[in-house]
Amino acid sequence: MNFDFTEEQLMIRDTAREFAQAEIAPSTIERDIKGEFPSEIVKKLGDLGFLGMMVPSDFGGAGLDTISYVLAMIEISKVDASVGVIMSVNNSLVCYGLEKYGSPYIKEKYLIPLAKGEKLGAFALSEPEAGSDATKQKTTADKEDGYFVLNGIKNWITNGQSADYVLVMATTDKSKGHKGISTFVVEKGTPGFGYGKKEDKLGIRSSDTSSLTFTNCKIPPENLVWEEGKGFNFAMNTLNGGRIGIAAQAIGIAEASLNAALKYSKERKAFGQHISDFQAIQFKLSDMAVKVEAAKLLTLNAAALKDAGKKYYKEAAMAKFYSSKIAVECALEAIQIHGGYGYVREYLVERYLRDAKITEIYEGTNEIQKIVIARALLDEN
Ligand code: CAA
Repeated sequence: MNFDFTEEQLMIRDTAREFAQAEIAPSTIERDIKGEFPSEIVKKLGDLGFLGMMVPSDFGGAGLDTISYVLAMIEISKVDASVGVIMSVNNSLVCYGLEKYGSPYIKEKYLIPLAKGEKLGAFALSEPEAGSDATKQKTTADKEDGYFVLNGIKNWITNGQSADYVLVMATTDKSKGHKGISTFVVEKGTPGFGYGKKEDKLGIRSSDTSSLTFTNCKIPPENLVWEEGKGFNFAMNTLNGGRIGIAAQAIGIAEASLNAALKYSKERKAFGQHISDFQAIQFKLSDMAVKVEAAKLLTLNAAALKDAGKKYYKEAAMAKFYSSKIAVECALEAIQIHGGYGYVREYLVERYLRDAKITEIYEGTNEIQKIVIARALLDEN
């Protein structure tokens, strides 16, 4: 495996880094406190091509590889993990799925504006009683007069109230279990499509996490993605790529924690010397650096396999599992190194911990990732 980045990959990383510092960092703290969605920033991300990074240019995207996407996600999430998840969902779960499985009509009508960043997408799989156990979809899509009529509730939907187009998983044939689930593109404003509450969260507070309601919501048959009964496979296949995005988001948080700890330890003095001179602190810094590096390698490996058109679902689960775990660990250590200052808002590291925690939960909890990894191992051996 060769991880010498190309000129183009480095350019994308640097562009993301500069954009994050100049355009995102100034408002991060205020948006976190207020729980305010970064609409202007999302628009600028679209102008940069960061909302449809891996979509070919024919469909309005930037035509880049998954490695570039990972590098950009790390830089954006280092500064603001809320912006990271908004970007990740649009790229990995929405654009990727529509590009791979959408009809020419869907690509023309929905993928192009989503990839250009003119519209924002959301992915609605989870329900009040179907989180980890995602096959237990209660939302129904019954056929009536040539339409699909949606009824049900979706929970924890990233970009929920902000999205123009939502990919909704619903049961079209209950008797077939997960093979009776289908995916639909639902436009904001469709009669019968409404919103429940917007969640007041521990972390990633400036992202929009909402519940969605569907009451006799009529969807035209051309908005069916892939085929009837393929909705669960659609969700699983797109989530494999999504897990690479969330791994990159977690790495961004972990690296930000390490950087903050390095800076602070060289400034703070105790017992007559900088705290960076104490082995107790040096060991923490070393542990954090090793973890960040290992997480990057796991994630780049999954991205490289995806780019090579090889099987990558086990590696994506490993990358997401490990990166999210170490993001929490690194944020906790950064707080410990900061002492009391780490516990107050002024010093950023408390936000890193709040933001890191969700990476162990969404797009499949870490317990689910272990199931995916174990099943792949057992299949292979
Ligand atoms: N990749 C591709 N296909 C997969 C897959 C994967 N990683 N995992 C399962 N599948 C396929 C299986 O091959 C099987 O397909 P066929 O029937 O065609 O053979 C089908 O899915 C059912 O699989 P299982 O029999 O293994 O089903 P299960 O119920 O025992 O386990 C599960 C499935 C792995 C637990 C799955 O339900 C799962 O991944 N749950 C987690 C759901 C999740 O990640 N939710 C995230 C919500 S979205 C989100 O968070 C986005 C956001 O807003 C940030």
